[in-house]
Amino acid sequence: MDCYSAVELIQAKRDGGTLSAAAIAWLIRAYTDGQVADEQMSAMAMAIFFRGLDDAELAAWTAAMIDTGERMSYPGLKRPTVDKHSTGGVGDKITLPLAPLVAACGAAVPQLSGRALGHTGGTLDKLESIKGWRASLTGAEMLAQLNDVGAVVCAAGDRLAPADKKLYALRDVTGTVASIPLIASSIMSKKIAEGADNLVLDVKFGSGAFMRSLDEARELARRMVALGQAAGVRTVALLTDMNTPLGRTVGNALEVREALAVLAGGGPTDVVELTLALAHEMVQLAGLDTDPAQILASGQAMDVWRRMIHAQGGDPDAPLAVARHCDELTSTASGIVTAMDAMAIGVASWKLGAGRTRKEDTVQAGAGVELLTRPGDRVAVGQPLLRLHTDTPEAFATARETLQTAVTISEQAPAARPLVADRIC
Ligand code: URA
Repeated sequence: MDCYSAVELIQAKRDGGTLSAAAIAWLIRAYTDGQVADEQMSAMAMAIFFRGLDDAELAAWTAAMIDTGERMSYPGLKRPTVDKHSTGGVGDKITLPLAPLVAACGAAVPQLSGRALGHTGGTLDKLESIKGWRASLTGAEMLAQLNDVGAVVCAAGDRLAPADKKLYALRDVTGTVASIPLIASSIMSKKIAEGADNLVLDVKFGSGAFMRSLDEARELARRMVALGQAAGVRTVALLTDMNTPLGRTVGNALEVREALAVLAGGGPTDVVELTLALAHEMVQLAGLDTDPAQILASGQAMDVWRRMIHAQGGDPDAPLAVARHCDELTSTASGIVTAMDAMAIGVASWKLGAGRTRKEDTVQAGAGVELLTRPGDRVAVGQPLLRLHTDTPEAFATARETLQTAVTISEQAPAARPLVADRIC
């Protein structure tokens, strides 16, 4: 591999130049190996934040990140593989009903997931609120479960795109997370390395998402879809609204309960709608001729859920954790609820103990926020709007402060907003 000067590459990007694929491959490899210092990569991330990466640079950047680790494969698997990734939201429990549903439709769903950090929840934390369930599987266990059950939700090992792990931690402390090419390469390097043949992206926009506007989300989706297609992974993205939390619960066990309601044929309409929309895309990409709505109604997805939880040591019949303390936030006005701010509710849930500030923190299984109303509902003065759950009641004050302006009430009904705003393929 040719050798480059990190300083010259930083200067070139700072001044609006274009980096060659060879230079990018060297930079990512040298950074991962510790030859390029954190301060140099911070400067490069900031230069990219302002100057961007063109399509060829982005493809080279993503490929170089993949090449720092292993690329998984599923030899001998008899089902088509299809994966889903959400860019992160509040109350986003969709993976829980979706993975068993798509498996019940005939696909294999290898879903490598993460833990909560900050205001967005983590799928692994949610599943760990089920007694006995374990997130770590070996490659052989994962393959066996995919063959047998069809769906696996487990922790991504350290060997997938290690460059991203190092770079993401650096971006987190240098104000360079919110860069479309850096987000696109970060997500897609891991997703491509996961080795599924098909991928559906749920790219969120709104107050609780990385991308605040639909236009930014569209650009992120366009770039991620292009990266997937170029790497031979059939990729489609849905752009979905994250101004309001999904469903009526935010928090680990609270969300598992809601996911179970969906698998049992009930649950909030928005959670059902998004689960079916994503399942429909996944089933189509996988080339299957099954109707997810019919499979959900038949109870087959619930059967797969039970087998999936059991295969990873969990007891699907064990009672879910309940927080020791509850408090309610009541309305100070009468009128129609026009907004329930996803970011504020996500932060409050985190402060109540459902999320973590540092990677090492533990989460409370029962903590979180329940939405007792939804936008469009008419409320009266004194009516409960949100129920707060925690084991640490001293957290109520700070959660309440965060939620002060979370619910907007006015005389005019809010304009109806579609949950799925666009589709990029
Ligand atoms: N999720 C990721 O994995 N990477 C990012 O950069 C942002 C969200």
